Amino acid sequence: MKVTDLTGGRPVAVIGAGLVGAGWAIVFARAGLPVRMYDRAPQVLESAPALVAQQLAQLDAYGLLPEPADVIRARISVAHSLRDALDGAAYAQESVLEQVDIKRQLMEEIDALGFADLIVGSSTSGFPASDFALNLAISPRVLVAHPVNPPYLVPIVELVGSPQTAPSTIDWTHQLMEAVGQSVVRVNKEIEGFILNRLQAVLLREAWTMVADGVASADDIDKTIRDGLGWRWSFMGPFETIDLNAPNGVADYAVRFGPLFHRIAASRDQQRPWDAQLIAEVEGQRREKLQASQLNERRSWRDDQLMKFAVHRRKAAGG
Ligand SMILES: NC(=O)c1ccc[n+]([C@@H]2O[C@H](COP(=O)([O-])OP(=O)(O)OC[C@H]3O[C@@H](n4cnc5c(N)ncnc54)[C@H](O)[C@@H]3O)[C@@H](O)[C@H]2O)c1
Repeated sequence: MKVTDLTGGRPVAVIGAGLVGAGWAIVFARAGLPVRMYDRAPQVLESAPALVAQQLAQLDAYGLLPEPADVIRARISVAHSLRDALDGAAYAQESVLEQVDIKRQLMEEIDALGFADLIVGSSTSGFPASDFALNLAISPRVLVAHPVNPPYLVPIVELVGSPQTAPSTIDWTHQLMEAVGQSVVRVNKEIEGFILNRLQAVLLREAWTMVADGVASADDIDKTIRDGLGWRWSFMGPFETIDLNAPNGVADYAVRFGPLFHRIAASRDQQRPWDAQLIAEVEGQRREKLQASQLNERRSWRDDQLMKFAVHRRKAAGG
């Protein structure tokens, strides 16, 4: 279905115009939708169009836009109140600070505005919608729609409803996200951190512990992903990986390697928090590799790599 048919030609709103909000504005506008951005901090709202324009220019330079950047940019406007942003909108992508009280308060404000068929997706990185969106008139129309930053380059979005979210809300948002070019994962049960950050948490838990135990340097652990697991992970996940890594597939793999992985998992039942000394150790190792003053330069390099990768993925998919 065409995205404008899905929204009935109505705009979408992005509430919170920081890093992630600006990224979502590009996702929706690139797909042809009018977008209204709102942020309660006037200086953020003021600088948002320039941030968007800069990101669009980068995408354009890599040939990653379906239309000229200024045509896409012209679909994005700034709203000066929550009401102005939401009035008549089909969908709102909540992208405010990751604080549960702020998200709850915003949901209550949206609820009080009473827009009867507005659907609200939250960008929250880890809070289940039950933590901030229960027992409101709008609760059946609120879900989590968790992206990766920047959402216009990394397509995954995790959709998770609360027990009060209507199934039709999740279905509609699924269609919307696919129509704007995102790759949808449906999380069937509420769980803190959803899938992506839980997988990341397991990896980080092991990475920190191996540094703490003197098993390897932070850089050698990074290298193991960069020059090892990451090569496959850019086009297949852990289940497909092991399905292909034993002659007769995943069940065969489980027989051959299951006990090894079970022993490894069982050896980590005592969880330590990342303590100050360990953090200082990893910080020291990282600053030897990259000075703090070079972090921004390296972030630009990372975004550049992501764009080159997006170009490659597009070519590989024949599009
Ligand atoms: N940064 C990431 O990598 C990433 C990735 C995925 C999801 N997220 C999630 O996206 C959300 C936004 O993160 P971010 O990195 O863009 O943060 P950010 O700090 O860059 O932006 C948040 C913005 O929300 C605004 N804001 C706060 N309360 C508001 C309100 N009531 N109404 C309107 N605006 C309000 C702030 O002024 C700020 O500009 C968070 O929930 C975060 O967990 C972040």
